[in-house]
Amino acid sequence: KILILDFGSQYTQLIARRVRELGVYCEIHRPDLPAEDIRRFAPRGIILSGGPASVEAEGSPRCDPFVFSSGLPVLGICYGLQLIAKLLGGRVDRTAHREYGSAEVEVLAARGPLAGFKLGDRVKVLMSHGDRVDTLPPDFEAIGRSGNSPFAAAAHKSKPLYGLQFHPEVVHTPMGKEILRAFLFTDCKVSGSWTMKGFIQEAEEAIRRQVGEHGRVICGLSGGVDSSVAALLLHRALGPRLQCIFVDNGLLRQGEREQVEALFVDRFHVPLKTVDARARFLTELAGVTDPEKKRKIIGREFITVFEAAARDVQGAEFLAQGTLYPDVIESVSYKGPSVTIKSHHNVGGLPEKMNLKLVEPLRELFKDEVRALGRELGLPDEMVSRQPFPGPGLAIRVLGEITEERLELVRRADAIVQQEIRDAGLYKELWQAFAVLLPVQSVGVMGDERTYESTCVLRAVTSVDGMTADWARLPYPVLERISTRITNEVRGINRVVYDVSSKPPATIEWE
Ligand code: XMP
Repeated sequence: KILILDFGSQYTQLIARRVRELGVYCEIHRPDLPAEDIRRFAPRGIILSGGPASVEAEGSPRCDPFVFSSGLPVLGICYGLQLIAKLLGGRVDRTAHREYGSAEVEVLAARGPLAGFKLGDRVKVLMSHGDRVDTLPPDFEAIGRSGNSPFAAAAHKSKPLYGLQFHPEVVHTPMGKEILRAFLFTDCKVSGSWTMKGFIQEAEEAIRRQVGEHGRVICGLSGGVDSSVAALLLHRALGPRLQCIFVDNGLLRQGEREQVEALFVDRFHVPLKTVDARARFLTELAGVTDPEKKRKIIGREFITVFEAAARDVQGAEFLAQGTLYPDVIESVSYKGPSVTIKSHHNVGGLPEKMNLKLVEPLRELFKDEVRALGRELGLPDEMVSRQPFPGPGLAIRVLGEITEERLELVRRADAIVQQEIRDAGLYKELWQAFAVLLPVQSVGVMGDERTYESTCVLRAVTSVDGMTADWARLPYPVLERISTRITNEVRGINRVVYDVSSKPPATIEWE
């Protein structure tokens, strides 16, 4: 395995992804990870990430000197290279021209990360740095240079210490994976055999180690990818010592509860308790129109209902959460000694309140790895590739007051959207596609009769991470089919409009 020390670059996670894509397990840790922790981690090599600071600035992050005395292969990227220069006796120039964008690196020596090239090859790379190395430390030499950086790639003459001024982890460095591959496979001598099958085995053992021989675990199932995969993995490790709880809050989509039950109970024989809390949520939400109030009520009620259900599980000491790697990294701060984990909106506050210990079997995985794991565990593709669905469910897609009748309108309209988007082969291209019910009525005509009914919004967006989004250019025939079917089949909706706003300035959901 490989250790990545994070100096705060926006690309650090990308380094980890590339390394794992090469079949090599790696973890990202704080930059000043002490020697004893590095020894315990026992990596085959260390990668120092880039970072926004200047190594010359006071208080800028440093690594333990053990990194260089350990004898382990080290690859410094951008800030990492500058740190090597600074700590081993070279010089960094703060006044150099900033360099951002594509550049060509000429290979001066085909070794280390550049082992896959030939002398004189020109390699297209992405540069993104303010400072640059001015003088290399003793016993270092340039193995690559660019127009702006005489030391675009550097190496120690006899030890496996390397630095790159550019970013091999981004797609704008097309041969970047080969560069990382050369370092990993030649210098670190890793085998590249890390796979999902291997992960499952390791994860099962880790779960059993944490939970012990008799410990019982409670897992909240939401029907989403993360909690489903976590539950299946836990079930493989613990069998009947896992108890899943699914709360039907009445804000689910059509058939959702039945799908969850069919999958987990009938197919995988996972112990599952479904709590029917529909009436309770409806009562609490009655008359509430403010979106944030809705969210608060739903969060609060969920905790109450879940807690009561969990208390019935005899002897449970653990609560499972589908925390993913990005959540862990975002919440790890290397500036302070404390490591806090983001509280999740859906189960926020539960473990402390209930005095349960957390089990997080997915905390080392990225979303696409969770999907791959789900497939490996036998989850059907439609579950694994599911679009996100918000925790507060249809409550934030019924604008205005929530009643069972209005929920049913949006539920039926949404079912049509889901089906038509899938039939058109667009489901995986879209980040989300759904229906929203507006608190607006308009005049229509049906047969010879005047109608005065609700308006439904069709929302479909593309996005990479949900942070920004673009409205989807759905084909007209698809829009037409959805509109015709909703107005014909859902009694109470006589008008469908298409939302052509992007995020920002709009958000994906309407509330
Ligand atoms: P917005 O509407 O903020 O949504 O552009 C971005 C992504 O987050 C989802 N979303 C939520 N998920 N609880 C959740 O679990 C919420 O309260 C919530 N609000 C929005 C939304 O579906 C989209 O994928």
